[in-house]
Amino acid sequence: MNIVFSKPAYGFHVEEFINQISKAMSKNSTTDFAEKAKDMLRQKTQVNNLFLTTSCSTALNAIALTLSQKFSGSVIVPSFTFTSTAAAFESVGFNIVYADVTEDTLCLDVNSLEQLRTEDLIAVVTTNYGGYVRNHEQLREWCDQNGVFMIEDAAHSIDSAFKLKTASVADFATFSFHSTKNLSSVEGGALVVNNIDYLDQILFSLNKGTNRHNFLAGKIDKYEWVGRGSNFMMTEFHSAILLSSLLEYPNVIEKRKLVWNNYAQKMTQLLENTDWKINPLSLKGETLGYHIFFALAPTAKIKKEMIHSMNLLDIPVQSHYPPLHLSLYGSRFSNLTLPVTESISDRIIRFPLHGDINQSQQEYILRTFENLLGNPANR
Ligand SMILES: Cc1ncc(COP(=O)(O)O)c(C=O)c1O
Repeated sequence: MNIVFSKPAYGFHVEEFINQISKAMSKNSTTDFAEKAKDMLRQKTQVNNLFLTTSCSTALNAIALTLSQKFSGSVIVPSFTFTSTAAAFESVGFNIVYADVTEDTLCLDVNSLEQLRTEDLIAVVTTNYGGYVRNHEQLREWCDQNGVFMIEDAAHSIDSAFKLKTASVADFATFSFHSTKNLSSVEGGALVVNNIDYLDQILFSLNKGTNRHNFLAGKIDKYEWVGRGSNFMMTEFHSAILLSSLLEYPNVIEKRKLVWNNYAQKMTQLLENTDWKINPLSLKGETLGYHIFFALAPTAKIKKEMIHSMNLLDIPVQSHYPPLHLSLYGSRFSNLTLPVTESISDRIIRFPLHGDINQSQQEYILRTFENLLGNPANR
C-alpha cells in the first residue's frame, strides 16, 4: 500500500523558479525569491519582523547568541521537545532548567514555572506541540510579571491560534520548514522578532555578526564585525522552494484538515470504553495547523507493541520526543522527575499525516488499528 508517514508538498513552481535562478547565475545577476517568500510569510503570519533562516535550529541559535551577549543565567525549556529548543541556549552557556508539560496540551505547564524560577532566570521557551498554543496568554503574563523573555518554538504551528495567533506575543518565535513540516523548503526556518529593542542585535546575529543590514539600507558606508553571529540566512534556492510551497499551501492545509478530522472522528468512536486517549484537547476555539495526529496508549508496553504490530503491516506509525531531561547529554542538567513528560513520551503514537493520504489508505490504517484493539491486551 506504500503509506508514508509524512510527505512535503513543494507545489508546482520549483523547477521554473530554480531555472530562473540558474539563468540569473549565468548572467551574474540575482533573483528575489527570499524577499517574495518573506513577504508572503509576513502577510500569512501577520508579523512585521520575520526573517528567513537556514532552519528553526539556527533561528534559535541566533536568539541565543543575541541574548548571550547581554545576559547569563538560566533558561526554562519543556523537556518534551526537540533537542534544538534547549541546545541553542545550552551551547552559549545558559543553564538549562526543564519544565513539565500538561497532559491536555503536551505544551509547557505554566503553573509549574513558579517552582522552577531562579534569581538568574532570563527566558522561558515554549514549544507549540502539534500546533497547540493554549498556554500563550498565561505564559506572556507570567514572563511580564517576572521580567523574563518569552520565546516560542513554533516549529509545528505556522497556522495556529487560540485567542492569540502563533508568534504574536512572544518576544521571539521560530518556525521550521524542514521536509517533515506542513510548509517546507526541504531545510529552512524563520525567526520572528516582536521585541524590537533586540531587532538590530538579531540582525547582527543572522548576518555573521555584522551590521551589513544597515549598510544595505544606506545607513552606514561600510559594515563591520559588531557582535556574535554566523551565516544563518536562507539561500535563494531554498527560498524558491519555499515560495512554491507557499503558493500550494492553502490546498495542503485543506487536505491535512480532512485527514486529521477523519482520524479524530473515527478514533473517538474506536477508543470509547478503552484506556486510550486521542488529542485530548477540545478543538473549541482552537485553530490548528493539523501538523500531528497522535493517540496516547494506556501503557508504554501497549504502545510499543502497537507500533511494532502496525509497522509489521507497513503502517509507519511513530513515537515522538524522548524526554530531554533523561537524554544522554541533557540529563546532566537535571535530576528532576517530570511525570507528565515521562508518561506522554512512553505512551505517544503518531499516525501518518499529509495531504496525499487517500481514503483507502486511511481506511486501512484505521481498520488495522481497530483490529489490533480487538485484542483486550491492547486496550
Ligand atoms: C519543536 C521543534 N523545534 C525545532 C526543530 C528543529 O527544526 P529544524 O529542522 O528546522 O532545525 C524541530 C524539528 O523537528 C522541532 O520539532
